[in-house]
Amino acid sequence: TPTVTLGIFGGGTVGGGIVEILSKKQSYFQQLTGKNIVVKKICVRDASKPRDFALPEGCTIVTSYDDILNDDTIDYAVEVMGGTTDAKDVVMSALQKGKSVVTANKALIAKDLPEIEKLLSSLDSSGTQFRYEAAVCGGIPVIRSMQSDFVGDTIQQVSGIINGCTNFMLTAMDRDKKSYEDALAQASELGYAEADPTLDVGGFDARSKLKILMRLAYGMDVDEDEISCRGITELTKIDFEYAKTLGGTIKLLGVASKNDKGSVSAFISPCYVTNDDPLSSVNGATNAIEIVSDNLVSSIYIGQGAGRYPTANSCINDIVALAKGDTTPLPFNPKSETKFANNYESVFF
Ligand code: NAP
Ligand code: HSE
Repeated sequence: TPTVTLGIFGGGTVGGGIVEILSKKQSYFQQLTGKNIVVKKICVRDASKPRDFALPEGCTIVTSYDDILNDDTIDYAVEVMGGTTDAKDVVMSALQKGKSVVTANKALIAKDLPEIEKLLSSLDSSGTQFRYEAAVCGGIPVIRSMQSDFVGDTIQQVSGIINGCTNFMLTAMDRDKKSYEDALAQASELGYAEADPTLDVGGFDARSKLKILMRLAYGMDVDEDEISCRGITELTKIDFEYAKTLGGTIKLLGVASKNDKGSVSAFISPCYVTNDDPLSSVNGATNAIEIVSDNLVSSIYIGQGAGRYPTANSCINDIVALAKGDTTPLPFNPKSETKFANNYESVFF
């Protein structure tokens, strides 16, 4: 049986999940793809750290990026280490070397989208692919759907709960009366928080995802900093009490919406949500995205937005798609002239 060989950058929450699922489903994936999918190397920062997953037979832990990048027997690079500096070098270099890349790194994509696109369009080999299903809303297959299911449609609005860590925290603070600090500590322990949780609680992780969704929905490339962004750091018990008195709760929402002139406004902010709004009962690390469009009217995606197995599941779907030889749609939907007109400041409360 032919083999496809993986080098994984990162052996933490997501990396460990990928290795576990590949081991568990090895023979099924072989039947499905006609190939053995083998993890040859996992690159981490600290090789001596104990791992909470079993290392596959023949797989070695390395600490130098080049051990994977310069290994010509490695077909795919899976980038699940996070960050935007080294991760960028690794992703760009892997693609240049003809290795297809699977990543869960929304911060990198949001920041360097134009450069990634430029490199992808310059690649000689159409067989070298870039897949990033796990980068937005963890386990929810929203990217694949946006790349393929809306070709005949026009999207008017994308909105919802797009950060699992903060939704987990808001649920814990509202329903379980946990303090902000305890809620954050628990979210980190469960693997929902970013290595730097400021990205979650400051709304920046959600903003990166919203930027990627805007590229997919409207073909527009916005400077992330221009998207109004408020996180959950200023929320206190009293806010939840007020919301309850009014008959609702508070959710951190991301919204990108076309106005009647055709330009798009976007924001990330804690929002008051009434109890009869379906979003009010989306709790824990669950995410929910609604896409409002001309043909489909309203499509709602709900699922686990963070955590080891939901996120690894999306990476696995990308890896298996590559091994099956699926030809990718354009990584990001074609560019359009849609303008960005941010006028959402007034919604902040
Ligand atoms: P994590 O648990 O902190 O794991 C990161 C892994 O990468 C660790 O194994 C770490 O090595 C390694 N690493 C970090 N910096 C490195 C460097 N400079 N050189 C070599 N290895 C390095 O992070 P994670 O939660 O798995 O997240 C990884 C990526 O997935 C991030 O981009 C994140 O945004 C994205 N993501 C995460 C989730 C989630 O729910 N966790 C969901 C969607 C997307 P050591 O173990 O030796 O420290
Ligand atoms: N920290 C992110 C979140 C991980 O909580 O949504 C998934 O993207």
